[in-house]
Amino acid sequence: PSAVGLAAGTEPLPDFPQLRQCPYQPPPGYRDLREAEGPVVRARLYDGRPTWVVLGHAVARELLIDPRLSSDWSRPDFPSPSPRRKAIQKATILVGMDPPEHSAYRRKLISAFSVRRTRELSESIHRRAGELVDTMLEQGPPAEILSGLALPLSSHTICGILGVPYEDHGYFEEQSALLVSPQVTEDDATGALMNLRTYLTGLVERKEKESEPGDGLLDTLVHRDLAEGSLSRDDVIRLGIILLMAGHETTASMITLSTFTLLQNPRQLAAFRADPAGAGLAVEELLRYLSIGDVAMRIAAEDITVGDVAIRAGDSVMLSTAEINRDAEVFDDADDLDLARGARNHFAFGYGVHQCIGQNLARAEMESALTLLFSRIPGLRLAVPAEQVEIKPAQSGVQGIYELPVAW
Ligand code: HEM
Repeated sequence: PSAVGLAAGTEPLPDFPQLRQCPYQPPPGYRDLREAEGPVVRARLYDGRPTWVVLGHAVARELLIDPRLSSDWSRPDFPSPSPRRKAIQKATILVGMDPPEHSAYRRKLISAFSVRRTRELSESIHRRAGELVDTMLEQGPPAEILSGLALPLSSHTICGILGVPYEDHGYFEEQSALLVSPQVTEDDATGALMNLRTYLTGLVERKEKESEPGDGLLDTLVHRDLAEGSLSRDDVIRLGIILLMAGHETTASMITLSTFTLLQNPRQLAAFRADPAGAGLAVEELLRYLSIGDVAMRIAAEDITVGDVAIRAGDSVMLSTAEINRDAEVFDDADDLDLARGARNHFAFGYGVHQCIGQNLARAEMESALTLLFSRIPGLRLAVPAEQVEIKPAQSGVQGIYELPVAW
């Protein structure tokens, strides 16, 4: 049926992406579309361009490892779900590249994010999370989860890994926050990214002059790859921008939204508190359930047929991980939050060659933040009515809420 809709071209297409009505549920319009038209549907992007939207797990699994589906943001016809995204597409590398170019860049980064490296860092992440919760306890109630716990934890962690001075966190957090503000235009987003670029350029230049390199990833990229000529200065700066942004904004959003979701699901919260050993499973389920990295963007480099849908070369293809992760054919009672579920086959971190490089780190940060928060503050509760918690716009790229006031 979706292919028919496309061919006719007469039906007004639904908008994509759509706004969440509840912070932890995918937009209801996605389910309606899936039920009416199947796992691959037609929709329209903010700039009027038609797009395919993938809403089903099996198709997503097939497409995300199909080399005919490209992530090459340098293509002039590469689609974007928002003006903000368009600006990001110009300012970063890695996530917007195809193999073999992509693989060469990714290889330079992976050891800094390996399971072993994350295990080495987990103690300091846990300690830092504990200090932040203690400060909340000393200074509150009330407190605010994003600024009091989630953001300082994720920013501090990514700064340590990259070798970015944590004193500068206010500046880069502010620039990243501008990118997700509700009415951001392409010009605003470009301005914020230029500021990030200026900041990273200064940092990289300072590192180049250091005779004793620090132990951050950016230090390695400067003193190994830039020095030997396998990366340009521009490459290092663009990698710095994507790692710094992806490293703090996503995890901070997951911690904040997970806290809200658990407070809204008291039975699951009680189970979480009762079983500290199950925290790893709980985090996995929260990742599936909340799917904050909603919307993977691709373009068809060649014609591709999936099921009865014919995607043509040059077509935009967007994948809604939030809806895909609620696929009833893969997850029993998919709309229920079930912290003991143990399902790892979700796409909250993507799938295929671009699967999130920071996933081990994100899991470690979430686990420490959530276990410490809920064990040390037994009476934690929302300090505002749930309906007043403001949801980030659909186009922000990272789903979530702006702040979460709490008391106890
Ligand atoms: C890629 C989600 C945390 C860095 C991705 C992708 C998703 C995602 C869905 C795939 C995008 C695509 O296929 O187009 C998340 C979520 C996080 C998180 C939900 C937190 C809970 C992090 C952290 C870092 C990070 C802590 C640290 C640096 C990256 C990078 C990529 C990526 C660099 C691109 C990888 C590539 O293209 O090879 N992430 N992420 N992410 N993520 Fe994360």
